[in-house]
Amino acid sequence: MSAHDIFDVRGRAAFVTGAAGGLGRAMAEAMAEGGAKVAAFDIDAAGLAETAAALRGLGAEAITFIGDVADETAVEAAVAATIDAFGSLDILFANAGVGDPEPALLHEYSTANWNRVVAINLQGVFYAARAALRQMVKQGHGKVIATASMWGLAGSSSVFPLPAYNATKGAVVNLTRELALQYAERNIQVNAICPGFFRTRLGPYDDPEFVAAITAFTPMKRIAEPEEIKGTALYLASSASDFVTGLALVIDGGCMAK
Ligand SMILES: NC(=O)c1ccc[n+]([C@@H]2O[C@H](COP(=O)([O-])OP(=O)(O)OC[C@H]3O[C@@H](n4cnc5c(N)ncnc54)[C@H](O)[C@@H]3O)[C@@H](O)[C@H]2O)c1
Repeated sequence: MSAHDIFDVRGRAAFVTGAAGGLGRAMAEAMAEGGAKVAAFDIDAAGLAETAAALRGLGAEAITFIGDVADETAVEAAVAATIDAFGSLDILFANAGVGDPEPALLHEYSTANWNRVVAINLQGVFYAARAALRQMVKQGHGKVIATASMWGLAGSSSVFPLPAYNATKGAVVNLTRELALQYAERNIQVNAICPGFFRTRLGPYDDPEFVAAITAFTPMKRIAEPEEIKGTALYLASSASDFVTGLALVIDGGCMAK
């Protein structure tokens, strides 16, 4: 296979959660630009409509599902409908996630916030991965890509206190390793992306103090744009990564090298 063909995702079917904006939209666009069919799932109907228009503008076959990744039934139904529509499910981006609604030290942290972050960031990955893997096992191939965070590999308190976020992202990294081992002999690769700071709706990127603090923290002294995730997304979704599994791929401008 030539270096160009190795990255080919033409005709493959991808399911992307959190696709209404930010990194998920960039992942969905990377798939569409590579010729894949894309199912986009998100709780944000307006953002999802924009993503669908962008994907179709790229000439891709695209379907959308409005739903909550913490809702097992909604995720199961959307994955089943995707397999019906596309005939297979080759690539899953379990990407939807939220930050701690009220960043705080643990002794002041609310149970409601904890449960919601766990439900979205961890249960959401479980539901999507399980539904996708069921099909991938039948097919005998697949790519599962979870969006964790660099805060799945280190505590974030030097920048801000995000206890539930850190806990869930660390869990996603180790779930990725476990799934990689479970499916290693079945031609299904399972990897995690661990981003640093990307300009999305996740953080208060319109707050100059926040931007100054994270820019100073990042060795490259800049914040990434969502499009900068596309290379990593295409690598992990394509044959280029066929011998890669259980990886936590850091894309963070050098933060984790410190
Ligand atoms: N932006 C960063 O700096 C950064 C860094 C590390 C990790 N991440 C991770 O990247 C992923 C994507 O985040 P982003 O930065 O693009 O932020 P974002 O807020 O722009 O996008 C997240 C998307 O997930 C959707 N979403 C939220 N809750 C949902 C739910 N319950 N069900 C379905 N969809 C839901 C949102 O509507 C949104 O479209 C998240 O898992 C996040 O933790 C982001």
